[in-house]
Amino acid sequence: MLDLQDVHTYYGKSHVLHGVSLEVSAGEVVGLLGRNGVGKSTTLKTVMGLVRPAAGHVRFEGRDLTGLAPHHVARRGIAWVPEDRRIFRLLTVMENLRTGLDRQGMTEPRKQELLEKVYASFPVLRERRHQAGGTLSGGEQQMLAIARAMTLTPKIILLDEPTEGLMPRMVAQIREIIDVLRRDGVAILLVEQNVPLTLEVCARVYIMEKGQVRYRGSARELQANETIIQQYLGVSA
Ligand SMILES: Nc1ncnc2c1ncn2[C@@H]1O[C@H](COP(=O)(O)OP(=O)(O)OP(=O)(O)O)[C@@H](O)[C@H]1O
Ligand SMILES: [Mg+2]
Repeated sequence: MLDLQDVHTYYGKSHVLHGVSLEVSAGEVVGLLGRNGVGKSTTLKTVMGLVRPAAGHVRFEGRDLTGLAPHHVARRGIAWVPEDRRIFRLLTVMENLRTGLDRQGMTEPRKQELLEKVYASFPVLRERRHQAGGTLSGGEQQMLAIARAMTLTPKIILLDEPTEGLMPRMVAQIREIIDVLRRDGVAILLVEQNVPLTLEVCARVYIMEKGQVRYRGSARELQANETIIQQYLGVSA
């Protein structure tokens, strides 16, 4: 469904992605691992059209996305939850969710239905619906960011380090949310530094180093390959 082929991305003169190729099938949960600064977030930003690749192709459902503006990419069914979450701190939880719902072609009953659906997945957001986004804990803000992405009813969600800085209890909740999305048939490209979590929730995994994909394989294969994990990630899984 999502297909990157030999993508090269620059920030000004700085060559960051050196020919990234990866694929995600419909409904598939795929991990993108790698140390700090290897280009994971840039890969997601390139898909979203926030940075334009100098060479290579990004295709979604067979159509070229290269050069499309971010809102057009989103309309094709791709949602992005950035590292810094970008919730509106002064808006309430419900108003934050409304920013995803108030879009063309949405009827009020449909909005209510989607709102109910995300509240069912995230009961804590229902409890806090009148609270300002900025007063939520880090984990709750991450949930709100994912919930807002869900209101767009995307075919794929690009999740950038959703568990970064979260307490173990919240990490477990994010993990459950990934399972909920998977059951709903939503594909996920999951950027993470949490290797055990990634190996648990993903079927397949890519590892990046210096702007390139250096390893690809099933989570099971990687799990059994301590050498690769040490070499590219420098951690034990
Ligand atoms: N807006 C930018 N302008 C210039 N250079 C950037 C910009 N954003 C990122 N970079 C550089 O591009 C490289 C890749 O960054 P990127 O954020 O994609 O890495 P990452 O794998 O997501 O790292 P992290 O795990 O720290 O989030 C880094 O060297 C970074 O300093
Ligand atoms: Mg990053």
